[in-house]
Amino acid sequence: MTSTTSRIAPAQRTELLGFSDIVKIRNRVMDMTARGQRVIRLEGGEPFAGTPDFVKQAMKDALDANQTRYAPSSGTPELLGAIRTKLAAKNGLNVDTKNIIVTSGGAHGLFCAFQATVNPGDEVLFFAPYWTPIADQIRYSGGIGVRVPWSETRNGGDVIAALQKRLTDRTRVLYVNSPSNPTGDLLTREQLQAIADFAIANDLVVIADEAYEDLVYEGEHVSIASLPQMFERTLTIYTLSKSYAMTGWRVGYVVADEPFMVALRKLVLNSVNGVSTPSQFAAAQAIGNGADALKAIVPEYRKRRDLLVDALNGAGFRCPSPAGAFYLFVDVRDRLGEDSWKAMEALLERTSIASVPGSVFGPEGEGHLRMSFSTQMETIEQAVEALRQL
Ligand SMILES: Cc1ncc(COP(=O)(O)O)c(C=O)c1O
Repeated sequence: MTSTTSRIAPAQRTELLGFSDIVKIRNRVMDMTARGQRVIRLEGGEPFAGTPDFVKQAMKDALDANQTRYAPSSGTPELLGAIRTKLAAKNGLNVDTKNIIVTSGGAHGLFCAFQATVNPGDEVLFFAPYWTPIADQIRYSGGIGVRVPWSETRNGGDVIAALQKRLTDRTRVLYVNSPSNPTGDLLTREQLQAIADFAIANDLVVIADEAYEDLVYEGEHVSIASLPQMFERTLTIYTLSKSYAMTGWRVGYVVADEPFMVALRKLVLNSVNGVSTPSQFAAAQAIGNGADALKAIVPEYRKRRDLLVDALNGAGFRCPSPAGAFYLFVDVRDRLGEDSWKAMEALLERTSIASVPGSVFGPEGEGHLRMSFSTQMETIEQAVEALRQL
């Protein structure tokens, strides 16, 4: 062994993965607050409210009942049953519990979905700007990511033309995230039907990321797997993180047809061997009894969105009102220039508003900043005031 080929080094494939740049921004903000500077924090990605009390109580009850041992690796019967009922009522998916697998949040569900479907050299189409880990996850599965700009799907844009342009004989998977992080785009039923027709015509597998299914302000959320002939070719990823303010509980689930389930079960077994048992008991309660909490929270998000969108447009930015999720993807080119890192710094400097540079979400995000409106009303009001003075 020569000194240039030391074995004291991480495996090469880990080089395919990166760290989120959002961490850099978080550190910058922490540094400022530690120095006593006020920061209006819009850079986050978490629900503003706490986990509902009845969900926390369910965790306590599970602990008191000694539900602390290994659960079946695919999920507890209680949680799988609650998910099955929810899928039928909300998503138009009438599936058996054997078509559901519980994962450690949506992130783990997505990781397993890409590993379960992508072969080395396969091309994976995905809309951009995109949630940062997606490009890494595609790469780590051996796939080649092919970006499809969201901008080509908007204002009557032809989503099929956008996809067709990037289709090759190596295209195998299509990742669809609606409502989208970071743009808040929500695909209409017609657009999703067109995407479904495209997937069927070209024999593609669809990975549908429905993390924000419950945060929709205009229009409807449609699960692409519920469209005719789509269930067999679609893996749908859900999470409790955003709907029920449970980011730290790490519970999500994937829904798919049997051939993919075999692969997913192997991946979950060999990665986490099941999700924390008490978390699953709490998750079953959230899904089974969370309808009222959800109904109450959506207008709160809408109110925050409207205030911030108005303030940003009033300050000379171009900020469309997103139909879903809890992010604004603001075109800042007119006032702060093309370089989104510099724009982030300038805004922070001049208004104390922390945001995320759009280029973190792919090159299509250049000239933009992502801001979350998922924060306390007081913070929104401070942001509105700061923008008024910009
Ligand atoms: C688009 C999208 N998908 C999936 C997730 C995964 O969330 P979690 O792992 O908390 O379930 C997120 C989280 O930010 C997201 O934005």
